[in-house]
Order: sequence, then structure tokens, then C-alpha cells
Amino acid sequence: MTIAEFKTACSVIEQEYKNKIAAATTSAEVEDLRVAALGRKGALTELLKGLKDFSIEEKKEAGPLGNALKASLTAALDEKTAFFAAQEINNELNKVDLDLTLPGYPVAKGHKHPLSVAQDRMTTILAHLGFEWAEGPWVEDEKHNFDLLNVPQHHPARDAQDTFFVDTKMPLVLRSHTSNVQSRYMEKHKPPLRIMAPGRVFRNDSLDATHSPVFHQIEGLYVDKNVSLADLKSDLTAFMKGLFGNKAEIRFRPSFFPFTEPSVEVDVKCVFCQGKGCNVCKGNGWIEMLGAGVVHPNVLKNCGIDPNEFSGYAFGMGVERLAMMMLNIKDIRAFYENDVRLLKQF
Ligand code: DAH
Repeated sequence: MTIAEFKTACSVIEQEYKNKIAAATTSAEVEDLRVAALGRKGALTELLKGLKDFSIEEKKEAGPLGNALKASLTAALDEKTAFFAAQEINNELNKVDLDLTLPGYPVAKGHKHPLSVAQDRMTTILAHLGFEWAEGPWVEDEKHNFDLLNVPQHHPARDAQDTFFVDTKMPLVLRSHTSNVQSRYMEKHKPPLRIMAPGRVFRNDSLDATHSPVFHQIEGLYVDKNVSLADLKSDLTAFMKGLFGNKAEIRFRPSFFPFTEPSVEVDVKCVFCQGKGCNVCKGNGWIEMLGAGVVHPNVLKNCGIDPNEFSGYAFGMGVERLAMMMLNIKDIRAFYENDVRLLKQF
């Protein structure tokens, strides 16, 4: 064979197999062609056997031509194999009623309930102010819900009107406030202590726009040497600024709680009208937010802390009330109805 004949044979083989590959109708046919063209006894191998008669110079010329032929046929075979593979997948897909080009079903993502959002914001601010998370039981004895907190036997809060009594031989109640965590915590821990106690509380109220038999409070308690009303005011100011922005202002009004002396009612300047008076603050310019005061010496004593050595402040605030302000929700029932059209907005 001459080099010229080798070249001609290359293009004849290439043309022949490309035609056959193009005409193949199954992947099995393509595999047969692969063997026939490139296999051990295939056309290319046969052709290359002729190389042995060539001179070195001719081999240098013929070698790359053989390689190019092999590459070209391999590419054509691979392409046809891929074509049949895709066709096979499409045939399978066509058998089922499945359209992969359709967008997926929208899966609604869950998210936090607005009350949790609000409570998280409050507890995060308190944590930054150094308050540690504490918890207490929902079903509580009268001792921790009332007695240790200096709530006298005749106090109206104990009345069945307000408190849910659990029908057992033990004097148990559903805790009417988170203040039970104060007594529980002080029994076990000694000052300095600084805790927040978020949680569910229960009162014998019927559900209306501003009341619910189950709601949430966050209790705060700070006991150390020389704690005063001034500490309470600066900490609560910082808290309200964290919640409502740097312009937030608070004021104290004298009040009464059995567990604090003096006791105060804490108002926040209305965040909707900046104190000018609007329908949210009912023209007052201020909104009542929480109860607080200096821990009554009897409470410290009842819990085993010496009131001559230590003093403290405490506060209790309603999560719903603050959440309604923060999120501009007008009716407390919205939190419990769980209408997703409302929940989705937060
Ligand atoms: N426990 C009170 C309530 O449920 C709120 C409260 C007032 C808590 C004054 C306190 C406090 O710790 O010092 O209405």
C-alpha cells in the first residue's frame, strides 16, 4: 500500500462509517458499528496493519491521519449513543403523565407566630441588659403564687373571680402571673440575681378585644446590694428604647402591688402620636405598659434573703399588650384565632 492509497482508505472508511452511524436506528446497532470500526478486528485496525510496510517518513505522515480517523469516528459514535440515551429517557417520560417543565407546587414556609416574634424581641433586649432566662410551673401552689409574694389571704386576686383554682386536695392554682418565678427562683438562688421569666399565665377572664383567659407575661427581677427605683427606671428606659426606638420615654405613676413597696405603674409615651393624644392612647399621650416596684422586704425575707443586706426591683409586663403596640394589632383575639392572612404579615 502506498501512502496515497492509505489516505484514500482513511477517507473511504470515514465516509462509510459516518453514513452507517447516521443510518443506525438503535443503540445496539451503534455498538455493533463501534466494534466493526474500532474493535480489535475492526476496519481501523486492519488499515493500520498496512503501516508496517511504510518508511519512517511515511509513518510520520500516516500515524496522525490514523489517529484523526479514530477520533472522528469515536466522536460520531458517542454522539449517536447519547442521542439514543436521551431518546430512551424521553420515551420513558412520555409513558407517565409528568411534565418536568411545570413549576413545582408552592410549599408554604412556616414562620414564627407574632407573639413569639414579639416575645423574642423583648427577651433579646433583656438578655442584652444582663437578665438570665428563668422558668416556673403553670400549675402552681398558692404558696409560690401568693403567700411568699406577700399577697394576703383576703386579697381580691385570690378570689375565684380572677384565679383558676385546680380542684385537688392541695391548694393549687393555674398561675395568675409570672411572679411565681420570683419566689421559686429566690428560694434556690441568692443575690446577686437578675432574671427574666417569660411565660403563660391564666385568669378567669372572658375573651374580648383586650382580655384573654390565657395570656403571656415577662417577669423581671433584680436583687443585689443597693438596688433602687433609679435602677428600675434606667433599665426600663433602656428596654423601651430597644423596643420602640431611641425617642421612647417612660414615666412612673404611684401604684400598689403587695409584692413591691413602693409600687409603680409604668407608662410609655404613645409611640403612635408621640404623646399628642390619639385613639390608641385614648387621648392620654401615654400608654400603661407594666407594673413594677422595689421588692417588698417581706418577699425577700419569705424567700430567705436578708432585706437589710439586699434590695431589688421587680416588674411584670404583658407580652400581648406590648406586642399589640409593636405590631399595631388592635384586637388581642387576633393572636389566638390564627387566621393565616394575619399571621403571614409578620
Ligand atoms: N404580677 C403583676 C400582675 O400580674 C405584675 C407585676 C407588678 C409584677 C409589679 C411585678 C411587679 O413583679 O413588681 O399584674
